[in-house]
Amino acid sequence: MDLSNFRQSFLAFLEKEVTVKEPVSLYKPVDYILQLGGKRVRPLLVLMSIDAFGKDYKQGLHAALAIEVFHNFTLLHDDIMDDAPLRRGQQTVHEKWDVNTAILSGDAMMILANQYLEVYDGAIYKKLMQLFQQTALEVCEGQQYDMDFEKRMDVTIPEYIEMIKLKTSVLVAAALKMGAIIAGASDEDATAFYKYGLNLGLAFQLQDDYLDAFGDPETFGKQIGGDIIENKKTFLVLKAEKSLQGDDLELFQNYYANDVDNIDQKINDVKLLFEKSGAVQAIKQEITDYTNKAFKVLDSVTISEEAKNQLIAFGNYLMGRKA
Ligand code: IPE
Ligand code: IPE
Ligand code: MG
Ligand code: MG
Ligand code: MG
Repeated sequence: MDLSNFRQSFLAFLEKEVTVKEPVSLYKPVDYILQLGGKRVRPLLVLMSIDAFGKDYKQGLHAALAIEVFHNFTLLHDDIMDDAPLRRGQQTVHEKWDVNTAILSGDAMMILANQYLEVYDGAIYKKLMQLFQQTALEVCEGQQYDMDFEKRMDVTIPEYIEMIKLKTSVLVAAALKMGAIIAGASDEDATAFYKYGLNLGLAFQLQDDYLDAFGDPETFGKQIGGDIIENKKTFLVLKAEKSLQGDDLELFQNYYANDVDNIDQKINDVKLLFEKSGAVQAIKQEITDYTNKAFKVLDSVTISEEAKNQLIAFGNYLMGRKA
């Protein structure tokens, strides 16, 4: 099945389900963020997963919407935490309205996400809910580590990987596993899909970290250098710190340890040091490695070659993305 069909079908469903009712000040921001677009990676994965197991993807529309609304809720709150002005090329909700609005509309979205799952019955509903709630809690854990790490100078690469697994990968993995659950796949296949998603999710967040520094502001839709401003301990930072020496290392550490007056200078210098240290090369390699690791997991799954190829094509598309 063609991805554009999944996308169209999902967007039509979203359009129908997400409506602005009273109080408008609560629901307007929900509609705003969901209509701003985005890649729709997670809902597409739910639908692709069901299709891969030979079932009708339409059974997954509610789960796909649940996961996309949940994802967008995390963005509303994440943009407050990260002090981000831009999302998908437009003002973030807390900028366009205010922080309280972003908090409460976000809360409502988390609840709506759970409600969309209520259409599923019995054992499937229970499995979906258990996975969804566990995943949501892990995303909170990841977000907390992400913030804690801003203030720490001794974060290790394994700690970073664990953090991005929690804040990002588990939701990508859950999207795939929810599709498998709805399709009635075997536990082995569902677990393999989850593992494929975990690795794909790690590559995905590494790519996001790369684009945050080196992306094209036109296509990326977020403030370039936002992670540098917020002292995020991304893979680029940890790798650069390991390789830099002498004056370079001192300058780099100084930027991350002290308040900085000239923020543009910081972004410029830090990016140069990312390049000079080899961190840029290293992150590209890491993205390729995790993507290939994801593909490897598919070897053991009992789905058609065509379905595997579709998942591989999707992984390759994510690796080459500009947004
Ligand atoms: C942004 O997710 C948050 C991350 C986990 C990097 P996406 O990159 O999927 O954002 P949209 O939904 O396409 O805008
Ligand atoms: C994404 O982390 C994690 C969640 C939103 C849960 P980022 O903070 O890197 O996401 P962006 O870059 O703002 O989209
Ligand atoms: Mg952010
Ligand atoms: Mg964040
Ligand atoms: Mg980011």
